[in-house]
Amino acid sequence: MSENTGDRVWSTEPAGERPPAGIDVNVPSVARIYDFLIGGKDNYAADRAVARKLIEVAPDLEHDAGAHRRILHRGVRFLVEQGIRQFVDIGSGLPTAQNTHQVAQALAPETTVVYVDNDPIVLAHGRALLAENERTTVITADLREPASILKNPDVLRLIDFDRPVALMLLGVIHHINDDEDPAGLLRTYLDALPSGSWLFLTHFLRSGPESERMEQVMQGSHKSGRFREREEIAAYLDGLETAEPGLVYIDLWRPEEPVDEATLSVTKRLVLGAVARKP
Ligand SMILES: C[S@@+](CC[C@H](N)C(=O)[O-])C[C@H]1O[C@@H](n2cnc3c(N)ncnc32)[C@H](O)[C@@H]1O
Repeated sequence: MSENTGDRVWSTEPAGERPPAGIDVNVPSVARIYDFLIGGKDNYAADRAVARKLIEVAPDLEHDAGAHRRILHRGVRFLVEQGIRQFVDIGSGLPTAQNTHQVAQALAPETTVVYVDNDPIVLAHGRALLAENERTTVITADLREPASILKNPDVLRLIDFDRPVALMLLGVIHHINDDEDPAGLLRTYLDALPSGSWLFLTHFLRSGPESERMEQVMQGSHKSGRFREREEIAAYLDGLETAEPGLVYIDLWRPEEPVDEATLSVTKRLVLGAVARKP
């Protein structure tokens, strides 16, 4: 079966697959909504209904959400070039083309990568992808419980916290609501990392009516999704040395080709990114 809305076919089930055990496909999930927006197949009608509402607010989202994966690729390459060989990618999302370990290990095969997500569907799909790779693992854990990640035996098997680590928090801190202390959580993670480690952060930016309406859709759907002011996001980088070009719209972060800021779509003005080193 399929729902056809304009130029995109919204299939009602991932091709030929049953949902993994324990996954409630009737409750929308951030991981699956995002999977749909970046062209994946591991999403269901409840997820696509939310995606559709977001696309109604910002129609270019349907085509521009992939920009978030592209900054991930550029940032991971940059971090490998800085000598980083250990990545903890929290809020990693469902596996897609060119994930963190593939990008990093293509440049430095010895690199170790731990994926962390609180949605069990990520583990269900990640396991198969990683079955052949002993330097990479995926765990189900919640960013809001740092000990469940920093003391997790699977994490400690691959990550030596006495050596520099890249902490990747792409598109996930904005799913921590204000009363859950995102800044305090970030500090806890950064305090656990040695000097020479890096934070790679992307975050929804409060910028105009679209950001407010998207926040309403997300909070209404899954009770998370905060679009914060630039100053609030910049404060997450306090005490770190932010690499050039600083905290910028994600397409402007070390683009491979020159990008004219004036041409950026609404969607591309809704997310800021930065990469910063712990001195
Ligand atoms: C928008 S996706 C980002 C995926 C990926 N980082 C990227 O940039 O392409 C956000 C992910 O964060 C996960 N997430 C949300 N809240 C989380 C939490 N408290 N702990 C761990 N993961 C969380 C969601 O399940 C989802 O997979």
